[in-house]
Amino acid sequence: MLSLRNIMLCTALLSPSLYAETNSATLETQAAERATEFATTLKSALAAAIKQGGLVEGINVCKMQAPAISDSLSTDGWTVARKSTKNRNPNNKPDDWEAEKIAQLLDMIRNTESIDNVTFSTSKDGQFRFAKAIKVAPVCLNCHGQTIAPEVKQALSEHYPNDLATGYRLGDLRGIFSITKELETSEP
Ligand code: HEC
Repeated sequence: MLSLRNIMLCTALLSPSLYAETNSATLETQAAERATEFATTLKSALAAAIKQGGLVEGINVCKMQAPAISDSLSTDGWTVARKSTKNRNPNNKPDDWEAEKIAQLLDMIRNTESIDNVTFSTSKDGQFRFAKAIKVAPVCLNCHGQTIAPEVKQALSEHYPNDLATGYRLGDLRGIFSITKELETSEP
């Protein structure tokens, strides 16, 4: 499959002026692409690890790969992250803007509105910001659900003594993809 990232890179090579375009629609598209790339890369790494070594190996992969994948996509002024108020890794604690978006999504869920295609974006304080919901799918319940196998529980408590990210049910809001771009302050 041709990755979105490659398409973006090719676009940059063919047309630098297009890439430099900083209107908010373009930024929104680019942010959404980075969020999708993060999700698909992580999901396939996780699925491969679980297939090969089971859930405990999956935990190792999440611990090592999730930050590595987010670093590898955090280029050209972008920062790609996952944030949750009920987080496993305390580094994934939301800031004020992110916490506000999580609260808005939870409100929508309470009002039985669909959050599937909801995105938020804004430009302020020299940054473009984008957020999108992450929902709990069946595979996630193994490590974030209400009933977790003893060996998985054990491995989680070794790596994450302050784990807040269990007790979720299918379809719950697990957190958000939070994508930030530092905006150029002066145009040439
Ligand atoms: C094999 C166990 C495992 C499975 C399955 C799993 N996760 Fe996680 N998840 C983890 C671990 C471990 C972390 C902490 C990663 C880190 O240290 O950055 C984590 C962190 C996260 C975070 C970042 C916020 C936080 O809590 O720190 C999100 C969001 C998340 N997972 C969503 C999901 C979703 C959605 C699924 C299903 C598609 C899923 N996870 C499946 C183990 C798992």
